[in-house]
Parts: sequence; C-alpha cells; structure tokens
Amino acid sequence: MTAYDDRDGFIWMDGKLVPWRDANVHLLTHALHYASSVFEGERAYGGTIFKSREHSQRLKTSANLIDFEIPYTVDEIEAAKAEVMQANGLKDAYVRALAWRGAGEDMGVASRRNPVRTAIAVWEWGAYYGDAKMKGAKLDIAKWRRPDPATAPSQAKAAGLYMICTMSKHAAEAKGCSDAMMFDYRGYVAEATGANIFFVKDGEVHTPKPDCFLNGITRQTVIGMLHDKQVKVHERHILPGELEGFQQCWLTGTAAEVTPVGQIGDYSFEVGALARDMVESYERLVRT
Ligand SMILES: Cc1ncc(COP(=O)(O)O)c(C=O)c1O
Repeated sequence: MTAYDDRDGFIWMDGKLVPWRDANVHLLTHALHYASSVFEGERAYGGTIFKSREHSQRLKTSANLIDFEIPYTVDEIEAAKAEVMQANGLKDAYVRALAWRGAGEDMGVASRRNPVRTAIAVWEWGAYYGDAKMKGAKLDIAKWRRPDPATAPSQAKAAGLYMICTMSKHAAEAKGCSDAMMFDYRGYVAEATGANIFFVKDGEVHTPKPDCFLNGITRQTVIGMLHDKQVKVHERHILPGELEGFQQCWLTGTAAEVTPVGQIGDYSFEVGALARDMVESYERLVRT
C-alpha cells in the first residue's frame, strides 16, 4: 500500500490544483496544534458525488460551529470538487474536503490573524469494513463516550471530535473487531467511530436520537428510505440494556455506506432480510 502523502495525482488547495506530493503545510499550522479543522467524507459513484451540495454546506456549517468562515461559497466548493475529480481521472472515488486554520502571525490558542486554508483530495477507496457487508461487522464497546453538546460542538464534523474515535478504534482492532460502538455522556447508545447505528426489533427500526453526535447524511437518507418502505422508525434514546432484545443492526455513513453488524461486545445480531435490503437499496440509490 502506498502512503497517502506519496501518490501521483493532484490535490485542490486554496483555489488551485497542486501536484499530490506538494500539498503540504508548515509545522506551525494552528490546526495541527489545536484541532482547528473541519472536514467532509463524500463518495462519488459513476462520476456523481452523492448528496454533494449537502456535504459542501455541512463543511461550511462545521467551520462556523468552530468559529471560522471558509472563504469559498458552496458553488465554488462544488466546482473545486468537480475539477479535482477530473484532474485525477476518477469517477468512483472517496472525496475528502477539509478546511483549517493555517500558519500565520498567531501561534497561541487564539488564531484570528491566521489564514483559513481549504483543500480537497480524492482517491479510490473500497469497502470501509472489508467483507462485513456480507458477514456483519464485529464491534467492540468503546470506553470513550460522545461528549455533551455543552462540552464540544457535537454537530460539527470537526477534527477534535475524532480524538476519542481513533483511540476507540485502535482498542477495538486490538481485540479483533473492526470498529467500536460508543455510548454518549449520559450512557445512551450513540454511534460507531465514523458511522451512525440502527437496530431492528420485530420489524421496526430503532436508532439513537442525534442530540450529541453527527446526524449523518447517510443516516437521514436511510431513514427516508425506510419511510418509503413503510417501515416504522423510532428515533429515541436507547439504553445499553436494550441491545439484548434487538435482532438486527447496521451502520450507516458515507464511508461505511450501509454495513450490517453481526456482533457488539457480547451481543449477537443476524444479518437479516431488512439489513440486506437496506444494503442493496442504498447501493442502488447512490447510483441513480
Ligand atoms: C462520527 C461520525 N458519525 C456519523 C457519520 C456518518 O455521517 P455521513 O452519513 O454524513 O457520512 C460519520 C461519517 O461521516 C462520522 O464520522
């Protein structure tokens, strides 16, 4: 596998395409020290980025939530994504847009005099959970909890919120799991480290209320699909003790798409008909 900083191609950076290996920042970049960075994960299918404008808008909203303004409009970000996809000759791709406080006159916590930088990289990225789409992913239970919205801006897709996700995912992988399910600060079931979670019980769907974690674009899409299929969806607080009574489970996210879950800690789930149907229906939807 080639390292992400050592590839051919182009990255869009601050308004222009730069050769992949030259898309660098200085060590005294504010974001590197203080996590003043926001990003998007998107997927293009057959040359079209699924829900592209929603992602561009969320990038700008995330920046506002952590107190900076991206110096490009949604239309400009859309044009930049198209440009970088074309420059790399990709039609099926993962798209990573990001914006951060750069290096400048400030090096303390405050960063008003530093420029806001923006970049977009695209690459080919297969299934996020390997062969779990067929077998069901195995999840650990994270020791870290999603924070209170009064502690961190939980609706922002901001780098700082991923510190506990990386630690949780490393702990999960050390136990042979592919991800971890996290509780929130109150002890309710929240989400995985980079995907939202759904459960099925007696033909109805239950999913945590996104009041302290990202209300994913895929999550919202899947809820819409379930409504179209006349499946009842309960968005509510879910207690750990309820895990035992759920029959099916799946994760949703741009990278994860819809991935069934076979196990969370000691609890097992079947890769049932509804989970499989959602995997296939989502795959069809993103390509139409
Ligand atoms: C922590 C977290 N939750 C949920 C999601 C799912 O969001 P989306 O469906 O918008 O990709 C992601 C991925 O972007 C994520 O990183």
